[in-house]
Amino acid sequence: MEDKEADDSVHMEQVTGPHTAILCNQINGYKEFLHVGPERVFLPSFYANWHSKYGRFPVYQDDVWIVTYPKSGTTWIQEMVWCLMKDPKSPEASHELMKRFPFFEYDSLIPPDSVIPGVSRDDPMQPGMTWRILQELEVPRVIKSHLPKELLPKQFWDVRPKVVYVSRDPRDVCVSFYYHYVKLQGYSGTFDQFVHLFLHDTISYSPIWRHILNFWKMRHEDHILFIRYEDMKQDMSAIVRQVAGFLGQVVDEEQVAWITQHCSFPEMSNNPAVNNETFVSAPTDAAKGLKFMRKGEMGDWRNHLTEAQQKVFKTWTLNNLDGSDFPYYQDYD
Ligand code: A3P
Repeated sequence: MEDKEADDSVHMEQVTGPHTAILCNQINGYKEFLHVGPERVFLPSFYANWHSKYGRFPVYQDDVWIVTYPKSGTTWIQEMVWCLMKDPKSPEASHELMKRFPFFEYDSLIPPDSVIPGVSRDDPMQPGMTWRILQELEVPRVIKSHLPKELLPKQFWDVRPKVVYVSRDPRDVCVSFYYHYVKLQGYSGTFDQFVHLFLHDTISYSPIWRHILNFWKMRHEDHILFIRYEDMKQDMSAIVRQVAGFLGQVVDEEQVAWITQHCSFPEMSNNPAVNNETFVSAPTDAAKGLKFMRKGEMGDWRNHLTEAQQKVFKTWTLNNLDGSDFPYYQDYD
């Protein structure tokens, strides 16, 4: 693919080189990747077909958007926010999250001519269906996106919808993303190669630090709530109260306790509406038996990263945090 200007302001460039070659050889169906925009966001080439539409998407002030880098606890916060914004005792609560809480740019991540087996033609997993669902969403709309700040719809920054941003320790994100790539994309490289790709921003939505820090800088704005996966793990009830307050929802302690329990890892793992068991796994032996709701822990990186990898992570983290007041995820020693 030629370098191209998909609209007047965003440059897209095909990514080549050894890192991308590893990815192309070891995942199914993805052969081209792009660097998008000045921060060179790494995305599958299908994104180019959608960029302009996404930029022009109308944003409403009463929208609630969840924005995260993947594997940061998106599904977890989605279910919590849905319970706060809608009626968790209604029949709709048993519908899959993809239907209740659309994944904004999902269509741009999958080959446009693919047919996802095992789900109906109008399922949001099928290419193009999420875009349709987005047009018909009931207000107040709840929408999930992994897009970084610069690629969110242009109206975002004038209309200022409520945004809950969740960050997670990049080391745990890397581990979680590795299993995600194995399970859903048939990644067949080694974990070591994956760490290398992650640290070289050659994984979807990278670079992760720009993603996090751009929202960290906006954390005091009144339409943005910046929270961390680790805080949710430590005191979920407190986060339920905080998010409810941010969304202007009045909840009593009984509701807080109910949502906390409902969103616990064991409950979510057993809830077909949120455990993403219907996501189609890659047809590989390695994908069998892996669950989307995998472990749900903090610090699993300690079980995966070698000392050498930890050292590289440390240098990478310090480089990325140079000049920033972001205080987390630096406990290497
Ligand atoms: P692990 O792979 O480390 O287990 P996302 O929804 O952004 O893709 O994030 C998925 C990660 O969040 C997975 O991490 C998943 O297990 C974890 N997760 C999902 N629900 C959770 C919950 N209720 N409590 C703790 N972790 C949860």
